[in-house]
Amino acid sequence: MAVNNAMTADFLRSAYGGESMAHMRYLIWADAAEKEKLPKISRLFKAISYAEWTHARNHFVVLKDKVGDNTVPAGAVFGLTNTVENLQGALNGELHEIEQMYPVYLETARFQNEKEAERSFHYAVEAEKQHAELFKKAQKAAKEGNDISSEKFYICPICGHTVENEAPGQCPICGAKKELFKEF
Ligand code: FE2
Ligand code: FE2
Ligand code: FE2
Repeated sequence: MAVNNAMTADFLRSAYGGESMAHMRYLIWADAAEKEKLPKISRLFKAISYAEWTHARNHFVVLKDKVGDNTVPAGAVFGLTNTVENLQGALNGELHEIEQMYPVYLETARFQNEKEAERSFHYAVEAEKQHAELFKKAQKAAKEGNDISSEKFYICPICGHTVENEAPGQCPICGAKKELFKEF
């Protein structure tokens, strides 16, 4: 069985819900940035949207034998005003995950000896730290009326590790090879 304990299963479902909505929200904000003539910030949103998809997928896969309907309570950021504010929403969501949500989920998975869930939460929280930094930097540029300087972003398809400019030789979080990284 991939997950044995009800509380870890609930946290996986909640995290799946949150990641799924982040995936969609970032695509919507990518469109908004494109319209504001900020193509590199738009690309950043698209790249990170893909990273959130890897997190949602990982959580879903750990829940594979838990079949059936569930109501999923998950935090969701709303708002579609301008890119500076959209980036603030993005940053708030990432910080919530880094400071509160994933540390609690991770400790619970450890306490319940849920190895697969622990790995899935660990992969996610490590990537969210990079997302927060990248969104902070992007917001600083956008506030000054500028786009960001980075032309390309690389996402690890296993854990969502997110880097600018060039993929690492090997993913420092999950060990995936450079060639596997998805370019945006
Ligand atoms: Fe995520
Ligand atoms: Fe994230
Ligand atoms: Fe990775």
